[in-house]
Amino acid sequence: MSVSRFGVSLEKELLEALDQYVAENHFKNRSQAIRHLVRNNLVEKKWESNQQVAGAISLVYDHHKRDLLNTLADLQHDYHDIILANQHFHLDHDNCLEIIAVKGEAFKLTLLANKLIAVKGIQHGKLTMSSSE
Ligand code: NI
Repeated sequence: MSVSRFGVSLEKELLEALDQYVAENHFKNRSQAIRHLVRNNLVEKKWESNQQVAGAISLVYDHHKRDLLNTLADLQHDYHDIILANQHFHLDHDNCLEIIAVKGEAFKLTLLANKLIAVKGIQHGKLTMSSSE
């Protein structure tokens, strides 16, 4: 990969914030931090698009909650075309962790994740996506 150099002008406070970000995240230098920020931002933009991405939806819930398992299953059947696999872990007597691997158009993954996370009884839910191209 060829690398291009360019000059960046930043206000003092912003530069200090960048240096702090470099230190906190153990980046080698400012360039590495800026590359990371730009890439993350571009991937986030893709989330709203019809670009192909892959990701994982993680859900934590108490499986005793009424109707919760049925609702989760119904939703996943509605979106079976973007679900690759589903793994269920019994964390303790009450709590379950479910990880759903997904692949497809970013907006569809986001839609499914939002619906799952909004189900009553879900304690924690998160979607992570990466570009699959
Ligand atoms: Ni379980």
